[in-house]
Amino acid sequence: MKNKTLVSIVMGSQSDWKILMSAEKILKEFKIPYEKKIVSAHRTPERLYEYSKSLKERGIEVVIAGAGGAAHLPGMLAALTIIPVLGVPIETKSLKGLDSLLSIVQMPAGIPLPTLAIGKAGSINAALSSVSILSNKYPKIREKLEKYRKKQTNSIKKIPTNEK
Ligand code: RP5
Repeated sequence: MKNKTLVSIVMGSQSDWKILMSAEKILKEFKIPYEKKIVSAHRTPERLYEYSKSLKERGIEVVIAGAGGAAHLPGMLAALTIIPVLGVPIETKSLKGLDSLLSIVQMPAGIPLPTLAIGKAGSINAALSSVSILSNKYPKIREKLEKYRKKQTNSIKKIPTNEK
C-alpha cells in the first residue's frame, strides 16, 4: 500500500465535522491515507455529482458519509457509485438524529447503504468498518486491526472499581 488515498470522509456541512473528527482519529491511528470533504446534496448538488464520479478514478476504496436532518447525501452517493458508502447519521437539535438515522438507513432495496449508529459511536464504527473492509486486501491493515481488537479486549476489567 503506497500513500494513495483509500478512504474519503465526506459530510454535508462544516457543522458535521465535530462528529466525523472521531472517524479521522481512527484512520490516523491505523495510518490509513484519507481525505475529508464537504459536499452538500442540496446546497452543492453539482459538487456531489462531480465528487461521486471522481471516486473510482482516484482509487478511493471506501466512503464514510455523514449527514444530518433530511440526510440525503449518503443515499445519493450510494446511488452514484458502487464503492462502499458507510452512512453516519449526525445528531440534530430537533429530533436528536433520529431523522438522520431513518433517512440514511431506510434505503429501498437495490442500493445498499450500511448505516452506523447516530453520532460519535457511528463515526468511530464507520472508520473501523472501513479498516475492516480494507483489511481484506491489505495484510498490514489486517494485522493492525487484529492488534487493536486484542488490546481492546485486554483493556476490559473483570471486576468494576469505584473510579470513574
Ligand atoms: C445537512 O444539514 C448537514 O449534513 C448537517 O448535518 C445539517 C445542518 O447543516 P448546517 O445548517 O449546520 O450547515 O445537510
